[in-house]
Amino acid sequence: MKFFKLLEPFKIGNLQLRNRTVMPAMHLGAAENGYVTEQLIEFYLTRATARVGLIIIGGIGVSKRGTGGPTMVSLSDDKFIPGMRKLVEAIHNEGAKVIAQLYHAGGYAFSKLIGEQSISSSAVYSRFYS
Ligand SMILES: Cc1cc2nc3c(=O)[nH]c(=O)nc-3n(C[C@H](O)[C@H](O)[C@H](O)COP(=O)(O)O)c2cc1C
Repeated sequence: MKFFKLLEPFKIGNLQLRNRTVMPAMHLGAAENGYVTEQLIEFYLTRATARVGLIIIGGIGVSKRGTGGPTMVSLSDDKFIPGMRKLVEAIHNEGAKVIAQLYHAGGYAFSKLIGEQSISSSAVYSRFYS
C-alpha cells in the first residue's frame, strides 16, 4: 500500500491515535449562540465514522468579547460544557480523539456580532471587524 504509514497508530505525548490523519480546526459557523448544535455533532460524527484519527474542534471562543460571533462554538461559560461534552463523547465513541483549538480574536473579533466592544491585549485598532 502506498500510504501505509498514514494508517499506522501514532502517539502525541499520552494521546494515542488510531492513525495519523488529522482534521484541522475549522470555524463552521454552525453553533447557535455559542452552543454546539445537532448539525455540528452530525458533521464531526461523519468524519469520526470515516476513521479520522484526530479531530481539532474550533476555533472555540474563550471569551464573548473575543469571539467570532454567535455561530462560533464557545467555551466562555460553564453553560456550554454539556453540549461540548455530548459532541466529544460522540466522537470518542467512534474511536477518534479530540483536541480543542482555543480562540481569542482580540481586536479582530466581530464587535457588531458580539454586541459589545471587542477586547484585546494591545490597543491597536482594527478596521476589519469593528
Ligand atoms: C471554512 C474554514 C474554516 C476554517 N477555520 C479555521 C479555524 O477556525 N482555525 C484554524 O486554525 N484554521 C481554520 N481553517 C483552516 C483549516 O484548518 C486548514 O488549515 C486549511 O483549510 C487547510 O488548507 P486547505 O483548505 O488549503 O486544504 C479553516 C478553513 C476553512 C476552509
